[in-house]
Amino acid sequence: MRSAAQRWGAMRRPFRSPPVCCQRLPCVSRLAGAVLSKSSDDRVGAVSQDRQVPPGVDPARPAPARIYDYLLGGKNNFQSDRDAAERITAVVPEIRDCAWSNRGFHQRAARWIARRGIRQFIDIGSGLPTVGNTHEVVQAVDPRCRVVYVDNDPMVREQASGLLADSAGVQVILGDLREPDSVLADPALGALVDFSQPTGLLMTAVIHFVADERDPWQLVARYLGALAPGSYLALSHLTYDHKPPRAVREFCRIFDRATEQVHFRSKPEIERFFAGLELISPRKLGTKGRLCYAGDWEAEDPGLADSDGSRWLYCGVARLT
Ligand SMILES: C[S@@+](CC[C@H](N)C(=O)[O-])C[C@H]1O[C@@H](n2cnc3c(N)ncnc32)[C@H](O)[C@@H]1O
Repeated sequence: MRSAAQRWGAMRRPFRSPPVCCQRLPCVSRLAGAVLSKSSDDRVGAVSQDRQVPPGVDPARPAPARIYDYLLGGKNNFQSDRDAAERITAVVPEIRDCAWSNRGFHQRAARWIARRGIRQFIDIGSGLPTVGNTHEVVQAVDPRCRVVYVDNDPMVREQASGLLADSAGVQVILGDLREPDSVLADPALGALVDFSQPTGLLMTAVIHFVADERDPWQLVARYLGALAPGSYLALSHLTYDHKPPRAVREFCRIFDRATEQVHFRSKPEIERFFAGLELISPRKLGTKGRLCYAGDWEAEDPGLADSDGSRWLYCGVARLT
């Protein structure tokens, strides 16, 4: 089976050539399962030793945004994140492929929604800036598109604010999705999002960081409740369906000491996030949509996109009627 980096060019997406960090992926893959030494850090171009630690960030504690950044070949991570990512790789060797599959879904969904005429987006759990950020994807469809990024990791705000300082129509909010009233009332969000108009709500690979006790279904419903008819939800979520229980257990254990814990869910549990919405079948508009694995959604070559990594996440795009 081909790696995500090899499949990168085969999927429908706005950026045709892999980023430099992605071109390194085959080399990174060869290190899978190993604990990185300083010299191997150098080979994968990991974070420089003298990176400033933004206020509120504990570099000794792994964080989802930085682990994900490392898996995507980025440099905004610390040793604790790289160690956590390598421990995950030891139990889930296809984890980098999983991360790339998810990022591909995020981009294809955002672009697809922009092509339906949506011009304002809220990207919750946006992650660290990477190649093909949401605003780049949707502004390639229409430069008038506006994007509000929301993430609870201070490192995201620090990195994103610096990078996006000159980007028109973009705001970055440090916010916790478990506090929807405060996120929705944020003046930076109000400056770009007109709630009387349809919005693209992107919640990719984030809701699995919310425990059942915090009622993630009600939280998603709360955000949707603020949006106008004709809005869209794009959501992806880790699943334990058809997965080795030991790998899932270890995955969760690694996150036990991270800033957020991870909660795998079944397909029916993930389907509940779309309750009352019209799931989209992107290829056959008008026919009833369904959840699929992350790589499958609007893939140019579904056979190629169906990888072991992709099968760790269910995803869907739905319309608010
Ligand atoms: C795996 S990354 C996904 C990034 C991006 N959405 C994507 O799919 O490519 C998960 C992101 O969700 C953020 N996150 C986790 N829990 C959150 C919460 N309660 N509120 C806001 N952001 C959260 C993390 O900081 C991280 O940046």
